[in-house]
Amino acid sequence: MPSTNRLTEEPLQKKVERFRAEIKSFPVCLVTGGAGYIGSHTVLELLNAGVAVVVIDNLCNSHMESLCRVHYIARTESQRLQQNGNVPPIFFHQVDIRSTKSMNLVFEFWQSDKIHAERAIIPVSVGEVSANKAYLMLDYTLNPAKRAQPSPQTKDPSTWGRITAVIHFAALKAVGESITKPLEYYENNVAALVVLLKTMKAHAVNVLIFSSSAVVYGVGHEAGISEETVQVAGKGSGGGLLTNPYGRSKWMSEEIINDYCVADPNFHAISLRYFNPTGSHPSGLIGEDPKGTPNNIVPVILQAYQRRRSRVHVFGSNYDTSDGTGVRDYIHVSDLAMGHLAALRKATKQPGPVPEDEELDGQDPVSNYNVYNLGTGRGYSVLEIIKAFSNAAGTAIPFTVGEARAGDLGTVTASPDKAASDLDWRAEFDLQDMCRDVFNWAAANPTGYETLRRLSTMSGMNSQEMRRQSVATGLFDREEDFDSFISTSLSSIDNNNASKDSSGRRMSQHGANFSNMLKKMRSASHSSAVSDNDNPFGGNYALSSSPGHGASGAPRFAMTWGEANKTGTIAEGEEEEDLDLGPTLSPSTSRTLPMRSK
Ligand code: NAD
Ligand code: UD1
Repeated sequence: MPSTNRLTEEPLQKKVERFRAEIKSFPVCLVTGGAGYIGSHTVLELLNAGVAVVVIDNLCNSHMESLCRVHYIARTESQRLQQNGNVPPIFFHQVDIRSTKSMNLVFEFWQSDKIHAERAIIPVSVGEVSANKAYLMLDYTLNPAKRAQPSPQTKDPSTWGRITAVIHFAALKAVGESITKPLEYYENNVAALVVLLKTMKAHAVNVLIFSSSAVVYGVGHEAGISEETVQVAGKGSGGGLLTNPYGRSKWMSEEIINDYCVADPNFHAISLRYFNPTGSHPSGLIGEDPKGTPNNIVPVILQAYQRRRSRVHVFGSNYDTSDGTGVRDYIHVSDLAMGHLAALRKATKQPGPVPEDEELDGQDPVSNYNVYNLGTGRGYSVLEIIKAFSNAAGTAIPFTVGEARAGDLGTVTASPDKAASDLDWRAEFDLQDMCRDVFNWAAANPTGYETLRRLSTMSGMNSQEMRRQSVATGLFDREEDFDSFISTSLSSIDNNNASKDSSGRRMSQHGANFSNMLKKMRSASHSSAVSDNDNPFGGNYALSSSPGHGASGAPRFAMTWGEANKTGTIAEGEEEEDLDLGPTLSPSTSRTLPMRSK
């Protein structure tokens, strides 16, 4: 029976019991924003460490596809390492963290044995959804000695099946946008944190790892910034303090967590201040998929490479740096992910209350709250980044040097010493790793998750409607562009037989199944909308392992991306269909990465 049918038709109580039974054999961590860029990479490391994950995300800046790929990577790595293949589950709730009611229901779902959970709060089992999928992964070396380790406490089976810790990524993160929409930033980043803390308290979850940022140091601090550097929230811009609402939202969040740790000695929290995250998992399957116009340097370079912008504008060349351009501490996202595992180990080490003499009044720091930089300690200039990326891409990236960006600093790098000594964590990947992995991710996914994400929201429509909607939602400029996208994609299917390797194995599973979706779009002119109840993604995403049926019994589209049977061979009837989305993993562009330790 197709998994979707089971997802949609199984009686509620049975499903709840099944999910709870499945999670019972694992320690459990709840991850907000787990479908996003850093969240998805961290979820992967949690699975690698044997931890089951409950993800809460409203998908405002991400797609659940990232989690399907995460589960797939974890399964594949487990097989490669000849482990038992028993990868912990990911359960996904499409929920907004600002909603006190929904947050309580999610926690209640996992922390109690009650069955009255509302249908809307029943999670999607990501492993189940992704079970019939297969993707082409780039080759990379797995070093078992470097795999994420769980905290010792997770070895206590009495805690299994219940959430014992939260990693909180969910937030809005665009500095520029925060200036024009400050209330949205304070609501999502600050008010929602209070909702989360209250919910954790109500359900006796006492460990929090928080995504903070080097942005909290504000302006006025440069190389080798240590955690003790004093921050002041400040007002306005250019005043030597925090110059934007995003920065202030992170600073306020840290203060709130600190205050809560003072008030509740049983609560253990760590804020991690990331410097400049970049890179992606070496498989090429997950990565950063920024919406809108990016401002950060690496996505900008990527756009120049993809000819989506003519060149990189380098902001300023008169800084006191080796080549005059700005220097930053870039850190590989997989290193960041491992930093979260290290923080989790630290925060769960002493889950009991802090000793009485450490319970300090007022603003003094307490030992149940810690702050760590996650950076490499090493800086690279803008020109060095452009050069390293050009090397990875095998082509020169055009750039011009212009005026400095308002409020920018010459050098911003971390002191990574505290994280090294307290967490036993250090970044391992270098600039070449980061650029190569970003390049590979972009080459394999030229439109990120976006094209499929947007098209999949239209999966219940007939083709005319879809044509109109693709323009109305800004995916294409004109309806003709939609037509030509589909016909170009389809015509390349026949030309793409070469993209099978010598054993006939599909070289681009996701491309092939994307073509299936396109075909269904083109051929179907009568279909019913998918009802929300039918749709495990809360009505904005339809996905199944085979064409399904809507509530009315009429056929509906099913997005199958990377469908294959469990042994990795091609599903029946699909041999002739293969398609790559641009410069992807066809044999001409696919490559085996240099061996390296993870
Ligand atoms: P991201 O946008 O990829 O991930 C954030 C996730 O949170 C997304 O999946 C989004 O859908 C979700 N989300 C946002 N608001 C939500 C809400 N109200 N309810 C539920 N889900 C919600 O961003 P990222 O780069 O992965 O960043 C993760 C965290 O790290 C953020 O807190 C960010 O501020 C922080 N951070 C990021 C960087 C960076 O450069 N990427 C640097 C420093 C700090
Ligand atoms: C930005 C954010 C910061 C966030 C960090 C990591 C601002 C003001 N700050 O800082 O809050 O924590 O990203 O996500 O946005 N550059 C160019 N051309 C470009 C873009 C950037 O030359 O088109 C330069 C910048 O001047 C800087 C370097 O590249 O020297 C890095 O810039 P960016 O990626 O935006 O990071 P930060 O400035 O460190």
